Amino acid sequence: MSEVKVASSNGIPPPSFDLPLPDRPDIITANIQKLIEQTPNPRHRFIFKTLVKHLHQFVNETSLTTDEWMAAIDFLTRTGQKCTPLRQETILLSDILGVSALVDSLNNPVAGGATENSVLGPFFTEDAADVEFGESIASEGKGDYMYVEGRILTTEGQPIPNAIIDTWETDADGFYDTQYADRSHPDCRGRLRSDDDGRFGYRAVVPIAYPVPGDGPVGELLCLLGRHNMRPNHLHMMVEAPGFHKLVTALYPEGCDYLRSDCVFGVKKSLVVSLKDIVDDEEARKRGFPRGGSFKLLQYDIILLTEEQSAAIRTRVEEERGVITGDEKY
Ligand code: BEZ
Ligand code: FE
Repeated sequence: MSEVKVASSNGIPPPSFDLPLPDRPDIITANIQKLIEQTPNPRHRFIFKTLVKHLHQFVNETSLTTDEWMAAIDFLTRTGQKCTPLRQETILLSDILGVSALVDSLNNPVAGGATENSVLGPFFTEDAADVEFGESIASEGKGDYMYVEGRILTTEGQPIPNAIIDTWETDADGFYDTQYADRSHPDCRGRLRSDDDGRFGYRAVVPIAYPVPGDGPVGELLCLLGRHNMRPNHLHMMVEAPGFHKLVTALYPEGCDYLRSDCVFGVKKSLVVSLKDIVDDEEARKRGFPRGGSFKLLQYDIILLTEEQSAAIRTRVEEERGVITGDEKY
């Protein structure tokens, strides 16, 4: 005997209160807000109340047409469909709308001279090779020589030894290793540790400005908005040490044409660095650059907050903004 399927609800009963039939647009907004009041989790309730308020306000303010809303739905559908394990078009959408940078900045406020955060981006990988002090993260021929050095410090200027530093960058053609179909090993990326003095130093290449993927719906959107899809050249760094707040950041050499219009809003003033030109064959060879000649020197100290400092700053900033109050506290 074949099993008879009966359409059934999710088991949640109708609300105990009466909702007016939505004969006017404003009743639709009021009704959905009343329904959201029933959300059991207070944080979820707060988020969805706020989301729906702004979404409905947006539709009203723009007098959105049916065609425009259908175009938006088609765009979001195609954005989701473009995603694969290696291509995250939805994150890219969040990036180019500034939402990723905003969420990062609000969640990682700094004080006391601590190093500011910058967007992680999609090119971090877990498989970077361990690199000893002074070694290279890039294979020979990947670009112009650059030496990166500095210290990992507390806000009181004390060294943080044994911090793990993950670092990754583009080669001279503006590509990450993961963008090559024939990638056989990690390149232009490495994992190192600070020494007893908190010092780190490694050979790298001068990174190059590059476009974020432009062949999908997000690329179309950037063109529609008359925006370029370039990121200024940068060197990513992710620094972790026990007891300290994990830092995800990037350093941006000055002078790039895209510095002030980064398509994903990652650049902060404190992260813009000047590269020194070292034209000294002997020094280049001493630092381990096989071709000698000259190299760029990037010097930068990374200052980490302790977990307690980070939590205290975050609480203070949230209180100052006054966003979480009364029963909305989660
Ligand atoms: C990156 O810097 O690697 C990146 C960040 C956001 C979107 C695309 C790339
Ligand atoms: Fe990048």
